[in-house]
Amino acid sequence: MSRWRSAPRTNLMIANIRLYLSRQASSIFRYFYEQFFLVLLGWIPTIVGIAIRSVLYKLILRMDGFAAIENNVRLRFADHIKLGNGSYLDHGAYLHACPNGIEIGERSIVMHGAILHVYNFRGMPNSGIKIGRDSLVGEYSIIRGQGGVTIGDRVYTSPFTQIISVNHIFDDPNRPFVEQGITAEGIVIEDDVWLGAGSIVTDGVRVGKGAVVAAGAVVTQDVPPHTVVGGVPAKVLREIDGKTIKADRTIYHL
Ligand SMILES: CC(C)(COP(=O)(O)OP(=O)(O)OC[C@H]1O[C@@H](n2cnc3c(N)ncnc32)[C@H](O)[C@@H]1OP(=O)(O)O)[C@@H](O)C(=O)NCCC(=O)NCCS
Repeated sequence: MSRWRSAPRTNLMIANIRLYLSRQASSIFRYFYEQFFLVLLGWIPTIVGIAIRSVLYKLILRMDGFAAIENNVRLRFADHIKLGNGSYLDHGAYLHACPNGIEIGERSIVMHGAILHVYNFRGMPNSGIKIGRDSLVGEYSIIRGQGGVTIGDRVYTSPFTQIISVNHIFDDPNRPFVEQGITAEGIVIEDDVWLGAGSIVTDGVRVGKGAVVAAGAVVTQDVPPHTVVGGVPAKVLREIDGKTIKADRTIYHL
């Protein structure tokens, strides 16, 4: 093949590599800098690995005090990640913080397989994921932060929950939806909310303080504080007013 014909292909390859790198880190330098630490230290198992990372990962991300990071945690745009003192990232968690960042509050936990992805490649001003104190993101939960996701204190998301602050536009039947853009209004989950397993919170929704979202619910509207909502789409099942006390239950405490 002539040099002239292979040139466009080479240019395309370089463009693709640039695109790839721009979606992994804040700069090419940051990409190699962060990868150096992740490759060198990210695999080390046991409490020894946690101890090493709790000190040396301060060179790639912001950490108040000490955070416990298990082995095989995937971090991208680490310079936009802030971990509170006593927070915990379980094995297999994935945090992608471009570009407005991810903040995990004190003592909050991100369980195995959870994905926190800001996913802002379009310059959206309000993107980001912020989680308060003593909260827990359950196994395989997914949080997409395009419109901004703000989660309060003592919020628990059960396994396989999804908090997705983005929608595709699909108004025009004659154009592929991928060409029609997106909206991203943001989601707020106030303090003391429990999201049941497999529940989904869609964009633009506020879940009020102390609310419970039943397993499998799809939340498309604001949830009033201190209510239980369930179903698809989610409706109020009952209020939490202290009047419904179920007898004959064995209750366990920490
Ligand atoms: C919602 C939940 C907490 C039960 O709350 P509750 O107020 O005690 O609910 P009850 O069992 O008294 O049921 C009240 C009503 O809600 C309905 N309901 C309960 N769970 C529901 C659900 N997941 N989806 C839709 N409706 C549900 C019941 O059928 C009942 O309806 P009815 O009054 O017409 O008979 C429970 O069903 C649930 O979804 N738990 C989540 C479990 C989970 O994710 N665990 C992981 C922990 S990490």
